Parts: sequence; structure tokens; C-alpha cells
Amino acid sequence: MLIKVPDGGECRESQVTPEETYLNRRRVLKGLVASAAFSTVPSLSSLAEASRYAGVAVAKAPAWFDDKLLHAQWQASPDGESLTPFRDATHYNNFYEFGPDKGDPARHAAGMVTEPWTVMIDGEVERPGQYSVEDLFAPSRLQERIYRLRCVEAWPMVIPWLGIPLAGLIERLAPTSAAKYVRFETLARPEQMPGMRAGFSLIDWPYVEGLRMDEAVHPLTLLAVGMYGRVLPNQNGAPLRLVVPWKYGFKSIKSIVRISFVREQPKTTWQAMAPDEYGFYANVNPQVSHPRWSQARERRLPGSLFSPNIRQTQLFNGYADQVSHLYAGMDLARDY
Ligand code: MTE
Repeated sequence: MLIKVPDGGECRESQVTPEETYLNRRRVLKGLVASAAFSTVPSLSSLAEASRYAGVAVAKAPAWFDDKLLHAQWQASPDGESLTPFRDATHYNNFYEFGPDKGDPARHAAGMVTEPWTVMIDGEVERPGQYSVEDLFAPSRLQERIYRLRCVEAWPMVIPWLGIPLAGLIERLAPTSAAKYVRFETLARPEQMPGMRAGFSLIDWPYVEGLRMDEAVHPLTLLAVGMYGRVLPNQNGAPLRLVVPWKYGFKSIKSIVRISFVREQPKTTWQAMAPDEYGFYANVNPQVSHPRWSQARERRLPGSLFSPNIRQTQLFNGYADQVSHLYAGMDLARDY
């Protein structure tokens, strides 16, 4: 990857919002939602809320998202980790369609038109077609999932996503027995994506990712449309993105316009660009170094020179209990 070693982001250690504050906000939000007063969210006046969203432009959510939020299922037992501050999660991004710098997506992604948005479903599947996001999500309840997101560049974040398990959608679309992999494709619209125009031509657009079918239907695999109780900001992959928490972040493809059920392992963007550096599986693994740096440790954002917040990387990003069976018998050093 075109790596810039993280410089600690834009925030200080003291700005980490404790999880309790967030949970407290959710309780308040739920109360408001229950009384059909969601539009009064800006009146939430706790200092924590003010600082969480200060200076962060958040797009207006489509009506269907607000409706779904009324019935969202909030995560019952988070794992006790501090959430990444909203400002860092939305201003320290990788979304190369908008440029190579961490601040480019926040600077430029507002120009991406996300409504209306359709997703092409094709390949080995019984219900192919062009679906609106709204239709894809219609039968499902939004769920909150607080996951660690570990970038291959060795910085992790902890993000509360809102989405649906991909498994439920796959079941409804009914892939045939010939489908062995799922291929995902991002929007490629150079007129709205300056990174595609700026001669950043190392990447062969559109951005493509893929999962083996058993990975795609694993209960942890999420199709997200929101984060931090709000609609997904454009720079984080609006209106819908994948979240695969036990894999390096580049597998979590943003702004998806096509989902294909295929027989062969798809050629993915980073794998095609640098096959010696990025594999198809991209499972988080402290034992398997990137050819240019070690993956043994990670530097959680926010950090600073005096408090770098360095931790040991966990196998499968800490989700080994839930996912290691998927790779039984595989040589993780070879099939990286
Ligand atoms: N999806 C697309 N379409 N384009 C990208 O450049 N970057 C990936 C992934 N999804 C990327 C993408 C990488 S490298 C990471 S680490 C995560 O998005 C970052 O997600 P975040 O910016 O929401 O933290």
C-alpha cells in the first residue's frame, strides 16, 4: 500500500471519549427516537456530544435510514474498549478515489452523490438485478456492532457501525451452488472523485475486493450504512460499505455499487497492484510481516509522541475465537 506512517492523527489522548459517554448518548437517543423526536438530535446538549461532532459536517440521512434508526438494535455488551473519537474516524481515512492523503476523503468526498444509489447484483445468483440500497435493507433491522478496524498500515480504530449482517442479504439473494466467492466493486465516478483524476493511476479502478463465501456469510461480516448512531459519512464509504473486522482494513470496501457471486477467486485491487505485499485473505496476523514493516505491534489512534498508545497486534484482530475455524489446515504465512 502507498503507506505513510501514521502521524498520530488529529487528536490527543485526552480526547478519547469513554464508552460510557457514548452508551449514555445512545440511551438518550433511544428515548428521543421512541418519542418520534429524532429530528431534535442536535438539541442533545451534553458537552460530550458537542465535542464529538464539533466541526464535523454530517450529511443529512435519507428518510429510509431515519426510519430504520427508530428500530435499530444497539449493541448490548460492548467489549469495554474506548471508541475512536468521531472526528478521527472521519478525518483520518483511506479512500484513494479521493486522493492519497489521510485528509483527502474528508476534504473531497462531500461531492460524491449518494442518492439515488443502486447496487447491481449479478453472477451465480437466483435474484440478480439492480436494487436500491433501501430495497436491499428493507426487510432487515439495523444492528450496531462495535468493532476494531485494523489498517494494514498498523493503526487500529474502534468504531460503532450500524448495518446488517451480509449473511442475511446473501440468503435473500440466493446464490447458486456454483458461487464460491463474492466480489465487490466501488463506484468509479472520476468527475466526483478527484483521486481518480489526479494521475493517481497506480490503481486500476474501480476498487475491487472479495471474500470466500464462508467468510461472506460469517456472522461478523457486516454491510454498514451508518456509524456512531448516524448515517455513514461519504468519506467512510456512504451509502454502504463492507466491514470485515478480522481482516486488514483494505478488505472493507467502501461505496459499493456491485456485488457479484462468482466461481473463481476475484482479483482484488491491492493484490493486483502488489501481489508480493497484499494477499487475498489479508487476515490480521502479528506473525506475518508486511514485506516493508512488521505487523507485530500497532499504534492506536489517537496517540502522541509522549503517549504513542502502542499495543501488540492480536491474531485475527482479536476475533480468533470466532473465525479461526475458517482457516483450519491453511498455512497462514503462505495464504496471507
Ligand atoms: N474502499 C475504497 N473504495 N477505496 C479505498 O481506498 N481503502 C481501504 C478501505 N476501503 C479504500 C476502501 C483501506 S486501506 C482502509 S484501512 C479502510 O477502507 C479505511 O476505512 P476508514 O477510512 O473508514 O477508516
